[in-house]
Amino acid sequence: MTQNRPLTLLGIETSCDETAAAVVRRAPDGQGTILANVIFSQIKEHAPFGGVVPEIAARAHVEHLDGLIARAMDDAHLGWDDLDGIAVTSGPGLIGGVIVGLMTAKGIAMARGLPLIAVNHLEGHALTARLTDNVAFPYLLLLVSGGHSQLLVVEGVGQYRRLGTTIDDAVGEAFDKVAKLMDLGFPGGPAVEKMASQGDATRFTLPRPLIGKPGCDFSFSGLKTAVRQLAMAQETLDHQTKADIAAAFQQAASDVIADRVAHAIEMAAPYIGKAQGRLVVAGGVAANQTLKARLTETAAAHNYELIVPPPRLCTDNGAMIAWAGAEKLALGQVSELNVSPLARWPLDPSKPARGN
Ligand code: KG4
Ligand code: ZN
Repeated sequence: MTQNRPLTLLGIETSCDETAAAVVRRAPDGQGTILANVIFSQIKEHAPFGGVVPEIAARAHVEHLDGLIARAMDDAHLGWDDLDGIAVTSGPGLIGGVIVGLMTAKGIAMARGLPLIAVNHLEGHALTARLTDNVAFPYLLLLVSGGHSQLLVVEGVGQYRRLGTTIDDAVGEAFDKVAKLMDLGFPGGPAVEKMASQGDATRFTLPRPLIGKPGCDFSFSGLKTAVRQLAMAQETLDHQTKADIAAAFQQAASDVIADRVAHAIEMAAPYIGKAQGRLVVAGGVAANQTLKARLTETAAAHNYELIVPPPRLCTDNGAMIAWAGAEKLALGQVSELNVSPLARWPLDPSKPARGN
């Protein structure tokens, strides 16, 4: 079923440490427009702990979600009757937060008689480039966030073929841990990137796990451990030394990702074809400019087009959930009101749950 009328959806995201609501419209030709996109970042709540505390996150979602939804509807200048559906992240993520969002969405859907569309958070990231750049299927997706490092072929809505994943830490997690061990602040990714911009990436040499190995899996825990050992081996961890370590780490992580992407492009050939493929990058780490520069080279070397949505749509947000919901609703895919929240929910169900 395809829709021949515009679809307007409210999207709700509460699976980690951003409380977010957005309103997005999908035109019948597949063009998307963001009518409102509001985010409450819980950085201040979690900063004293140097990481996301699930219980604090869930409470903050409870406190802020209603107000954010009201603001999103206000910003969009819409009333409930103007909506065609409620999209909400129903996993994977921190279960307390997912429950807050899902229960709120169910309440609105029930009260207003609107369809509920339960969205996989990763699918939100995976489809964002279709909202921002109207990218056609199929494409190769590099998903790099705090919880996930994956390479997938996106063949259609709900059709994902996972080529590789991390066998230990996610890349965003490695950025966060490196920031923590050098006391650079929280969240770690932007802090490491800022510090690295003042550093010399060639002063220290760090390992590049799995580079050149077959397949396109990732491994970051050895790199993280090497950074810890390097930091501990320094007599004084002054500002410049921290900057040089941050730069070396960022370069090593970017090199590893670029190598894995090059392998994935080869592996994706049967599904994407070799001529003019598209590489889409999604997830919070996609905001990193050194990584983007490396991927620009890799894509060009393989005659691939590189598509990176703007940073505020790469990190967690409600617009990506509203959009994924709109894509599903356009295909007639709606959820039952008794749909369950899921802490784990792989995009490619044929792949065993391994790493992230
Ligand atoms: O997609 P996201 O907002 O949340 C998850 O679903 O995980 O990604 C957050 C992750 C964090 O690990 C954060 O440190 C990382 O993305 N990140 C970055 C940058 N901005 C955010 N990593 C490297 N460089 C950045 N500029
Ligand atoms: Zn995310």
